[in-house]
Amino acid sequence: MAEENKGIEQGNDHGAGEQEADRRDFLQKAGSVCAGCALVGTPVVAGMAVVADPLRLPPDDPEFLKVAKLDALPSDGTPQKFVVKNDKIDAWSRFPDRVIGAVYLRRLENNEIQAFNVVCPHLGCAINYREEQHDYFCPCHDSAFALEDGEQGPGSPSARPLDSLEAEVRNENEVWVKFQNFQTGVAEKKPA
Ligand code: FES
Repeated sequence: MAEENKGIEQGNDHGAGEQEADRRDFLQKAGSVCAGCALVGTPVVAGMAVVADPLRLPPDDPEFLKVAKLDALPSDGTPQKFVVKNDKIDAWSRFPDRVIGAVYLRRLENNEIQAFNVVCPHLGCAINYREEQHDYFCPCHDSAFALEDGEQGPGSPSARPLDSLEAEVRNENEVWVKFQNFQTGVAEKKPA
């Protein structure tokens, strides 16, 4: 019986030794796997952060867009309104060839182009050209803007002139505009 007990005790000792070896083996393998996690996981986590957080995407840069034909602009300087189209991109999707805004264009001397965003800098309504008054006018709160330079008229609630945009003629008959929207309700011209 004593022998049996001894055998049992020895068997237990042997089992404990095996368990310890198994435990060490397990910890070693787990450590290797976790090291792999660290190596592989870093770019995965970084990628997830870009996908999950749209603010990490690069900001939109204004770019020149083809907006009109030069011969669509009267040589007497009467402004014409044109929509501006581009691919619209948000954090998740691209929508090709969507209307992203509108501009008034005027042909000046030597085919120079004057361009204004149609958004009223006061609170964002759309301005109209008034042929009789020869100015731009916003019907929401009666802001008037000079045809020549977009300056707001006396009594206009807009805190700044119309937002001018860079424009140029390319390939003899194409009018390209560096289109951008700006914040409304502020005196400073800041990109929206
Ligand atoms: S939004 Fe144009 S005057 Fe107020």
